[in-house]
Parts: sequence; C-alpha cells; structure tokens
Amino acid sequence: MEKKINDIISEKAKAIDAIIDEFLPKEEGLAKTVMTAMNYSIHVGGKRLRPMFMQETYRMFGGADEKIVHPFMSAIEMIHTYSLCHDDLPAMDNDMMRRGKKSTHAMFGEAMGILAGDALLNYAFETALSAFDLITGDEEIQQTKRIAAALRILADKAGINGMIAGQVVDIESEDAPSEVTMDTIRFIHEKKTAAMIESSMMIGAVLAGAGDEEVKTMEEIGSSVGLAFQIQDDILDITGSDEVLGKPTGSDDKNNKTTYVTLVGLDEAKNDVKRISESAMEKLSGLPGSSTEAGVFLAELIGYLIVRDR
Ligand code: IPE
Ligand code: IPE
Ligand code: MG
Ligand code: MG
Ligand code: MG
Repeated sequence: MEKKINDIISEKAKAIDAIIDEFLPKEEGLAKTVMTAMNYSIHVGGKRLRPMFMQETYRMFGGADEKIVHPFMSAIEMIHTYSLCHDDLPAMDNDMMRRGKKSTHAMFGEAMGILAGDALLNYAFETALSAFDLITGDEEIQQTKRIAAALRILADKAGINGMIAGQVVDIESEDAPSEVTMDTIRFIHEKKTAAMIESSMMIGAVLAGAGDEEVKTMEEIGSSVGLAFQIQDDILDITGSDEVLGKPTGSDDKNNKTTYVTLVGLDEAKNDVKRISESAMEKLSGLPGSSTEAGVFLAELIGYLIVRDR
C-alpha cells in the first residue's frame, strides 16, 4: 500500500531531527542553563517544515552533496525556534504552551526565555558559518560563493525587512483594529511568516546551484506558501484544539489581534488558503525539477498544509 503523506512527513521530520541534533550545543559550563533552554525549545517538538522545505528544494534542484545544506537546515530551525521563544514572552503574545509543552519562558523564567532566544539566533549563524568547513577541494570558489549567498538570504529574511518587521507590525496592530487593513495583514503575514519559508526554499535552491531566475521563482512560491500558512494559523487559532496544535488557541483574540479571519471571515479565509496554495503548486509545476521525487513531494506537502490541523 502506498504510504500516507502524514507518515512520509513524519519520517522526514524524524530524519531532520537527527540532523539538527548534530549541531545543537553541549549543555556544559557555568552558562549551562541557556544551552539547556535552547535544546529544550528545539526538542519539545515542531513540524520542522522550514528545514524540510530547504532540503527538498535542494534535492529538487539536483544538489549533489547534501551535507552542505545540513548546517543551514539546523540554522533555519534555530532562528524559527528563537522567534517562537520570543513570540511567547509576556511582553508579546504571553503564551504558556508551545509545541505541546511549557513555553520556554514558562519553563525557565522570563529572563532565560529572552536569553535562550538570543542564543538560538546567534548560534544559528555560528552553525550556518560552519558550512564553510565542509567545502571540498574541487569547485572551492563556487561553493564558497553559494554559501555566502545563502548566508545573506538567511540574515535578510530573518531581519528588519523580514520576520522581525512582521512581528513589529503585528505587535503595533494590537488594540488598533480600525487601522489594520488587509494591506497591513498581508504585510504582517508576508514578513512574520512567509519570509522564513522563502528563506528556506531560496537557500535550498542557491546551495544546489540554481540560477537567479529559479531562486526568484522559489521566493515567489515561498511567499504564497507562507501567506497560506499564516492564514491557516489564524484559522486554527479559532477552530483548532490546544492538544493537537500544541499551543493555546484563542491567543489572537486574547491579545486583540486583527487577523486574516477577523477581516474576511472563516469561509473566505479557508478558500484563500486553498487558492493561494494552489497558485504556489502551479508555479512549482513549471520548474524543471518538479517531476523529480523531491518536486512531487514538495507539491504534496504544500497540498497537505491546506488541510493541516496542527
Ligand atoms: C508557528 O510555526 C509560527 C508561525 C509562523 C505560524 P509552525 O506552525 O511551523 O510551528 P512548529 O515549528 O511546528 O512548532
Ligand atoms: C508568530 O505568529 C510568527 C512568528 C514569527 C513567531 P503567531 O503569534 O500567530 O504564531 P503562533 O500562533 O504563536 O505560533
Ligand atoms: Mg505572535
Ligand atoms: Mg503567538
Ligand atoms: Mg498564531
């Protein structure tokens, strides 16, 4: 019997966990608490979608030496996890549960929640930089250039024109419902969520040696997938279950957030998730690698995210 997409995704996530584990810090020394908090926030769970997108994109573009993408897969999950540590802080969304367990600040205290996030962000770059150590004799210059380009994407998409920008506008939009238009919500979604998915796909493509046009196409695909992903996140905040999601539902309402759903309603939001995801699949199908195993899986994964409940 053919394997179900859920099973394939969880097998891949397990393999990704093993890769990430290779790069996590040892818990030792006088500052051990922060390393323990970093590893805790990564280990409690998570779907590992960003590293998965990166790895599969690398494969789809025929990347020849997969080891080179591993430090970047770990780095993107560290940056994502830092964003969650900070997103849950009392000054932000003030949520006590994440990935099915106590959120980092709830477990280790607020100061350590902040520091674990800081540490994960910095360690992400320490980890990504270690890709330079994997460069082999032949094609040295080309590999160096690709890693440098990937680092630039990693930095840009997480920064003040990327994820952080989205979090800033998200926070400033609380309690100001009349000022939050569809343009604002699209900005928030594009930045706080899509930027990191674009980053994952672009880095996979760049490291595999894809051309500029192909990288740009992956950025567009990531943008649509990310927008749909955040709309679905807003939907699940209303319709989901805490147990399945692993985080508290009703968080947006509690914080007086205007979301995609509050603007257009549940039905239209659901239709938009489907429509936007299908446009991403359509774009993907125009790429040369789309009929490879990885290309087919990527399309299936995008399709699965339309109906995800966690
Ligand atoms: C949660 O991301 C934060 C958003 C950008 C919506 P995920 O839903 O990918 O969270 P994990 O990694 O599986 O915990
Ligand atoms: C946060 O969006 C996205 C991040 C950059 C962390 P949300 O605040 O909606 O994410 P959840 O619902 O807490 O995972
Ligand atoms: Mg938030
Ligand atoms: Mg939140
Ligand atoms: Mg949410």
